[in-house]
Amino acid sequence: MIKNLIINENLENYIRENSYDLHPVQKDIIEYNNSLGNQKKMQVSVTQSYFFQFLIKTNNIKNILEIGTFTGYSALTMALSLPKNGKITCLDINEETSKKAINFFKKAKVENLIELKIGPALETLNQIKKQNLFFDMIFIDADKENYKNYYIECFNLLKSKGFILIDNVLWHGDVADPNKNDKLTNILRDFNSFLRKDDRIHRTILPLGDGITICRKI
Ligand SMILES: C[S@@+](CC[C@H](N)C(=O)[O-])C[C@H]1O[C@@H](n2cnc3c(N)ncnc32)[C@H](O)[C@@H]1O
Repeated sequence: MIKNLIINENLENYIRENSYDLHPVQKDIIEYNNSLGNQKKMQVSVTQSYFFQFLIKTNNIKNILEIGTFTGYSALTMALSLPKNGKITCLDINEETSKKAINFFKKAKVENLIELKIGPALETLNQIKKQNLFFDMIFIDADKENYKNYYIECFNLLKSKGFILIDNVLWHGDVADPNKNDKLTNILRDFNSFLRKDDRIHRTILPLGDGITICRKI
């Protein structure tokens, strides 16, 4: 059987050394998140962020929607790959982490590319729907209980051939462990099997970070 690599800190550092240099403000956010203790796990991994940048640059992506911004690492990463006329709309419910994120966006001088809307994401999505806005790429990384709702709403906001990415779909590996039956593990299992039945998309689960599903609207 072919064995997949476990990406430990050494390998993550090796990937960093052989990819792009991180922007100084990306490094600042990582340092800040590390100071938060357990909460640092909220941030996407550096390998995931390289993948986002590759996807944005190679697919002429201009309009992005992010659900779940935290202190801004994933949003800043995506903004740094956008063309000058690109835009990211970010949704988050937490005022405190959103303020922190906005400060980092200003420090990196990309605040003109990012609009952060604070409030429960399902409500904000409803407003966006009324504005007839459509996106090339949507990244879902907020409360897992609403993943299915977010996906259903986001699919209608996605342009044809657009991408939806959903984080944490492997949930520390627990989704494949029959002994794990807690609420969130089961929510993610249900979500993964729900997505499997959607024939309006091409999709695959990538073992990057905590597992990320990438879907492309057919
Ligand atoms: C995993 S973190 C996002 C991490 C971020 N993408 C990054 O890479 O740094 C999840 C975020 O979702 C937000 N969130 C949780 N429930 C939400 C809701 N109902 N509506 C909007 N945002 C929500 C939290 O405040 C938190 O900042």
